[in-house]
Amino acid sequence: MKIGILGSGDVGKSFANAFTKAGHDIRIGSRSPEKLKEFGAKAATFKDTAKFGEIVVLATLGTATEEAIRIAEPANFKGKVVIDATNPLDFSSGKPQLAIGHLDSLGERVQRWVPDAKVVKAFNTVGNALFFKPQLPGGPPDMFIAGNDADAKKKVAQICKDFGWGVIDIGGIESSRYLEPMCLTWVLHGILSGSWTHAFKMLHAGNG
Ligand SMILES: NC(=O)c1ccc[n+]([C@@H]2O[C@H](COP(=O)([O-])OP(=O)(O)OC[C@H]3O[C@@H](n4cnc5c(N)ncnc54)[C@H](OP(=O)(O)O)[C@@H]3O)[C@@H](O)[C@H]2O)c1
Repeated sequence: MKIGILGSGDVGKSFANAFTKAGHDIRIGSRSPEKLKEFGAKAATFKDTAKFGEIVVLATLGTATEEAIRIAEPANFKGKVVIDATNPLDFSSGKPQLAIGHLDSLGERVQRWVPDAKVVKAFNTVGNALFFKPQLPGGPPDMFIAGNDADAKKKVAQICKDFGWGVIDIGGIESSRYLEPMCLTWVLHGILSGSWTHAFKMLHAGNG
């Protein structure tokens, strides 16, 4: 499939490499695509990247995601599955916190900014180094996803499985309120343990 990835940071680059390895055609977007030399002609503006994608991935700075969507133009997301991997991180107090929470979430805001798209929150609860084929002694970790459209979640779940993950669906896009704090759980454990190779897994009794 054609995958348009908005974001030139480590997360955007990890997605670009992962989707390429999984056999997809990608564009990776930036306000300054010339800085993505290693991606050659696959680097594009936010707008051309969003236009290109049959699936669009958001891998932008949380607090700048609204602006990135504005630059990409909401019309270019119409009818598409949008994977929202962003987190509304706020480091202004000197420690990581969320800028949005409890009664709203960045995932819900993204859905409001691109109302004609099918937003699925995913890949926000783990470090990008583990996005593709995580090899952990406890077996495949679980990707927690949330979104309003069942078919869109099926597509994203398949991508997660192709990338080597189990999938746990926790409901509509409003459940992003619970996935974004999971990012902080992941980050704070990383800070305290000094190790960044962890991922979440839900254990079930029987076949649950
Ligand atoms: N670090 C991880 O492993 C990890 C894992 C899961 C999720 N996340 C989330 O993934 C997202 C990306 O993280 P990252 O560390 O790769 O990069 P980042 O530094 O958070 O974001 C970089 C991207 O944001 C864009 N951006 C920054 N300021 C902007 C502005 N004012 N207007 C428009 N766009 C702007 C940049 O655009 P330009 O290309 O034009 O510079 C760039 O594409 C974040 O929301 C993060 O919380 C991170």
